[in-house]
Amino acid sequence: MECTFIIARFDPDRDPRRYHQRYTVSAEPTDKILDCLNRIRAEQDPGLAFRASCAHGICGSDAMVINGRVELACQKLVRDFKTANNFVIEPLPLFTVLKDLIVDLEPFFEKYRQIRPYLIAGREPPEFERLQDPEKQKVIDPALRCILCASCTASCPISRVNPDYLGPAALLRAFRYVFDSRDEAADSRLGELDTEDGAWGCKTMWWCSDVCPKEIPVTKCIGQIKRALKAKRTAR
Ligand code: SF4
Ligand code: FES
Repeated sequence: MECTFIIARFDPDRDPRRYHQRYTVSAEPTDKILDCLNRIRAEQDPGLAFRASCAHGICGSDAMVINGRVELACQKLVRDFKTANNFVIEPLPLFTVLKDLIVDLEPFFEKYRQIRPYLIAGREPPEFERLQDPEKQKVIDPALRCILCASCTASCPISRVNPDYLGPAALLRAFRYVFDSRDEAADSRLGELDTEDGAWGCKTMWWCSDVCPKEIPVTKCIGQIKRALKAKRTAR
């Protein structure tokens, strides 16, 4: 079948204006949106810029807005959309567009680095390995599915109005370490999250959980951070 793709274009080296370009492409209902974009680039427009790598929902590089909703282009099939084969493709909101569908994710990864995304364990390691408490592992398991695609943060209404807010993805990663029994920095991590730019910035709008392609209950995880913060205050 023939599908129409209306794709946001922007190339600041050639033209400071943004515009939309229409392409027609043959596609099967089972084709991924990413397949269609690849076909457009290969057959019609080698200048079309977008990020993608694994094509299997693992690398998190092809988040974009498809028909008004943030999606991974490799996880959505043509037949998933009831729009008479018309697609409008736009870059992730919130971030600065560098070219076409490519946005500058440096602010996203800056927030990610800010929460110290690694185990902090100062004690001498045991002979073989530091063992995780199985119950704690169950708590953090959903967060481990995160592929850092930025869909949640790009969709978060709080991130749009407060550029200093850590955002759902960074908070989710912080959650993953706060509740890891091997990590010895939970107290200082919680101290850093106990602000309006941290966990309290979340107003439980649920947009992050709604768009997450890995179906991670991001808002609930942030809620668990808030409960830990309240428990910490009560224990003082
Ligand atoms: S929580 Fe979900 S939407 Fe957010 S970065 Fe991770 S995988 Fe992407
Ligand atoms: S291309 Fe890797 S997640 Fe889509």
